[in-house]
Amino acid sequence: MQVLDRVKINQEISALKQTYVDDRSALLPILQALQNEYGYLPDLIMQETAHALGIHPVEVESVASFYSFFRRKEKQGKYVLRLCQTISCDLADKSKVARQLENELGVKFGETTKDGMFTLEHTNCLGMCDQGPALLINDRLFASVTPDKVPQIIADCRRDFIKSDFPKIVPSDVKKSGPILQHGLKSGDGLKAALNNPRSGVIGLIRESGLKGRGGAGFPTAVKWQLAGAAQSDQKYVVCNADEGEPGTFKDRYLLFHHTDMIFDGMTIAAYAVGATKGFVYLRGEYLYLQKYLTEVLETRRQNNLLGEKILGKEGFNFDIEIRMGAGAYVCGEETALIESLEGYRGEPRNRPPFPVDTGFQKHPTIVNNVETFLDAALISAKGAKWFNEHGTEKSSGTKLFSISGDCAQPGIYELPFGITIAQLLKEIKGEDAKAVQIGGASGKCISRKDFDRTIAFEDISSGGSIIVFGPQADMLHVAINFMEFFVEESCGQCTPCRDGNVKLLGGLKMLAKGRCSVTYLNELMRLAETIQLASKCGLGQSSPNAFLSILENFKSEILGRVPEKE
Ligand SMILES: Cc1cc2nc3c(=O)[nH]c(=O)nc-3n(C[C@H](O)[C@H](O)[C@H](O)COP(=O)(O)O)c2cc1C
Ligand code: SF4
Repeated sequence: MQVLDRVKINQEISALKQTYVDDRSALLPILQALQNEYGYLPDLIMQETAHALGIHPVEVESVASFYSFFRRKEKQGKYVLRLCQTISCDLADKSKVARQLENELGVKFGETTKDGMFTLEHTNCLGMCDQGPALLINDRLFASVTPDKVPQIIADCRRDFIKSDFPKIVPSDVKKSGPILQHGLKSGDGLKAALNNPRSGVIGLIRESGLKGRGGAGFPTAVKWQLAGAAQSDQKYVVCNADEGEPGTFKDRYLLFHHTDMIFDGMTIAAYAVGATKGFVYLRGEYLYLQKYLTEVLETRRQNNLLGEKILGKEGFNFDIEIRMGAGAYVCGEETALIESLEGYRGEPRNRPPFPVDTGFQKHPTIVNNVETFLDAALISAKGAKWFNEHGTEKSSGTKLFSISGDCAQPGIYELPFGITIAQLLKEIKGEDAKAVQIGGASGKCISRKDFDRTIAFEDISSGGSIIVFGPQADMLHVAINFMEFFVEESCGQCTPCRDGNVKLLGGLKMLAKGRCSVTYLNELMRLAETIQLASKCGLGQSSPNAFLSILENFKSEILGRVPEKE
């Protein structure tokens, strides 16, 4: 039993409080740092943290219990092995890797080995969907894991492979690039161009380009910036949403590593346009391995006066960026949940209105944009609106980055114009024999062959970039169950339709899998699904039945009257 030193813990908390803003918003970083050191968050740490921040220990407990990466009761192993359980890794035979991990370690998922070396866990999307099955060990990523590789991986851990030069960042394959990925710009180019214009001119250029948010909803970026710019406040914030938790999405991970400076340029341009002085990158906990690199790039930018006071000599323009880590909660990608999390609370979505552009981080006007949106904004600033909107459609200008995985010969990252049909896309990725395509991740829609002439664009089928292909052999009921398990796990629990409704839907799907679901009951489930869409508070619940409904609609005959698989 580890003996904890109260005085030492207090000194550590005081130091951490000074590193971060000295208020409640320091809670997550403090808990993350202490868990790194002690392997879990025992009562003493929770109490002392509460005391230092002037809040009740119950509040600290309620936050720690919300995030899947925090461990309250027992110490985690020296190595925490997190195997991705989302559908792309499933299609790549993740279950065999899971079995082999259990065999080698002699523990089940959720358990820690007796020697305290290994904790085995499942996790949702690791953002390696084109190279599954993916396994995260502490902050190291393993791609394309097969059962025969498992013993060596375990042996490397036992030999403390962490000290070896094993690369932390697994590259992603760009299969097709276009004007965005081939921008050829240098750090600061977009920002310099922006600073030659008045603030209103920057927003005008973004409006002219027609840029719409790349995070999925497609909200016009210029409108968001205009609203935040017009809001009266002594402090405004810019937040880069790097939570990328949607199953099947990994393009932001790629951009954050390969186009880092352009993304920071975009954030700084946004800060100039709206009058913000502080920015955050909210980076998902699963991408911890990027944190050090991003921090180094920020430091170089400070040295080059691309951040800090009087940026590039512009009088009165002061702005800096801080990286904040998420802790394993998909819902924190929703912008108001993200802000709650940044403030040190459970990542529970807020009621809207008020919107973040008016009442965001610590009640100040805040813009939240996707990683790719900031990249596009920086490029538009340097290259102009026409350069951007000569691609795509009238209502969906520009090209889009797609993360492509599943049953196709060439998964990876593709830059393609908006307006492309699904059939054209399948030809591009060599997946022409697909029987269905999931567009927009678990919360998106499952499109069958009869609709392959539809286009990917905000005016037809919109997408944050996740495309998962299902070949002729794919079991669509299995797909629906996988997605529903994801939502049951990731619901924040605030509202009943989403919290309880999705559990019922999952139960129904499992009855279907056993061949024991009547059509009458199926119709009731469909009505329940529609109620969840209508009555849920945030986008997670509102979209959680999408895959269920579209799979039922398109593959009813495949799903009904099934003969159950033998155990
Ligand atoms: C459950 C849920 C998860 C989301 N996850 C992300 C995410 O990981 N990244 C992202 O940019 N937007 C995500 N969004 C959308 C954000 O709420 C927000 O619309 C987006 O960050 C705005 O940026 P944009 O206008 O540049 O697209 C999510 C929304 C919901 C409902
Ligand atoms: S819809 Fe789901 S995730 Fe959203 S607030 Fe309600 S319970 Fe939470």
